[in-house]
Parts: sequence; structure tokens; C-alpha cells
Amino acid sequence: MKIMSKIIKIKLDNSEYRIVIDHNILNSINLTHKKYFPNRPKIIIYDSKLKNKQILKTITSKFGKNTPIISIPSGEKSKSLERLEKIYNKLFSLKIDRKTVIYALGGGVIGDLAGFASATVMRGVDYVQVPTTLLSQIDSSVGGKTAINVTQGKNLVGAFYNPSLVLISTHFLKTLSDLFPKLFFQAKISEYLDLVYFLFQSL
Ligand SMILES: NC(=O)c1ccc[n+]([C@@H]2O[C@H](COP(=O)([O-])OP(=O)(O)OC[C@H]3O[C@@H](n4cnc5c(N)ncnc54)[C@H](O)[C@@H]3O)[C@@H](O)[C@H]2O)c1
Repeated sequence: MKIMSKIIKIKLDNSEYRIVIDHNILNSINLTHKKYFPNRPKIIIYDSKLKNKQILKTITSKFGKNTPIISIPSGEKSKSLERLEKIYNKLFSLKIDRKTVIYALGGGVIGDLAGFASATVMRGVDYVQVPTTLLSQIDSSVGGKTAINVTQGKNLVGAFYNPSLVLISTHFLKTLSDLFPKLFFQAKISEYLDLVYFLFQSL
């Protein structure tokens, strides 16, 4: 079953953001960027495991080959102070300013790390969650919890900092079959997302 495009508006005390759910959101990502962030530069922070996957190829081709990308080694170890400092260095070398929009492309690790970098660099810039794992699509990309791990424990340094937009595509989950063959498809992911959508509607 293909889900239809859906937009959920999340209203907060002083702001709001949207969650866009579509089967293949990347085809129109450039238009989406122009709609929500007209004339604003973007930088993509992505999970290195996606390097050879169609997801990254499509996003860079839609955004233009010159769009800066920052590769983060896959895995929980990247949610570290050391990796965060490398991200800051790279963002400043790319001449980030307060208008820049950061796209966090990956699972919960990238969402938490790039989200925290976005919350703190220049006291906060807009960021877009583009979650590519099931957990990140149904949990970590929404709610604005960002964090890194420190020696004393997991997620102990972080910030509540909501994304400006969340782009969810069931299409991304197809490549997860590399990790968990068949299981994901048997689980009827799209119905799962539909359920999440209706839960949000009832909030
Ligand atoms: N902020 C929150 O509210 C919140 C909630 C729950 C969990 N988390 C955090 O989320 C993290 C776990 O997230 P996760 O389970 O997504 O793990 P993850 O980000 O490590 O991704 C799991 C694996 O899938 C790979 N991957 C990602 N997208 C892929 C794709 N489309 N195709 C193939 N491989 C892909 C990654 O490289 C990685 O190897 C933890 O750090 C946890 O603390 C945060």
C-alpha cells in the first residue's frame, strides 16, 4: 500500500512545524526547500552508510551538486563531543550563517547529533529532520530531543530544540533490507506510519 502525502502541523507554545509524510519525498525536495525556506542556503549532514545509496544521490542531484555535505561515520560512537567539534569546524569552514538550514539525513544518531549541532551553532539555526530508519521516522525525528553521549552516559548533553520541518518517506526504508532482510516489508511499514499519523491527529 502506498500512503498518500500527508502534512501534520505540530503546534507548540511559541512556534509550529510540519511533518510531511510521502512515499517518495525526495523527488520534490528542492521545491519543498524553496517553499519553507525561500532563498536560504542548505548544508546536508548525512550518515556515511548512505553514501552509495540512492537517497543521498537523489537529494544532492535535486539540491545541486555544489550543495555542501558533511559525512558522519555510521553508528552510536559518532554522538560524541569530538564528532560535534568536527561538525562545528566544518560548518564554519563552509561559512554557515544564521540563514543556513541544516538537513539531518540518517537515523536517530544523525538526527540527535545534527540536531544538537543545529541547536548550538551560532545559538541555533533551522534544521530539517530527514529520518531514514524506522525508529527515527516514528520516534526520534519528532519531539525536538537532541543529544550527544559523554563518558558519564548516553544522551547526557543535549537540548530540546525542535526541527523546523520533518520529511518522512517510506521509500527510504527499502534500503534497510540490507540490514534486516524481509522483516521490514513484512511489518507493513506504511500502515505503521498511517497509524502514527492518526495518533498525531488525535493529539
Ligand atoms: N531524540 C529522540 O527522541 C530519540 C528517541 C529514540 C532514540 N534516539 C536515539 O536514536 C539513536 C538510534 O537511532 P537508529 O535506531 O535510527 O540508529 P542509527 O542512526 O545508528 O541507524 C541504524 C543503522 O542503520 C543505518 N541506516 C540508516 N538509514 C539507513 C537506510 N535508509 N538504509 C540502510 N541503512 C541505514 C545506519 O548507518 C546505522 O548503521 C540512538 O542514539 C538513540 O539514543 C533518540
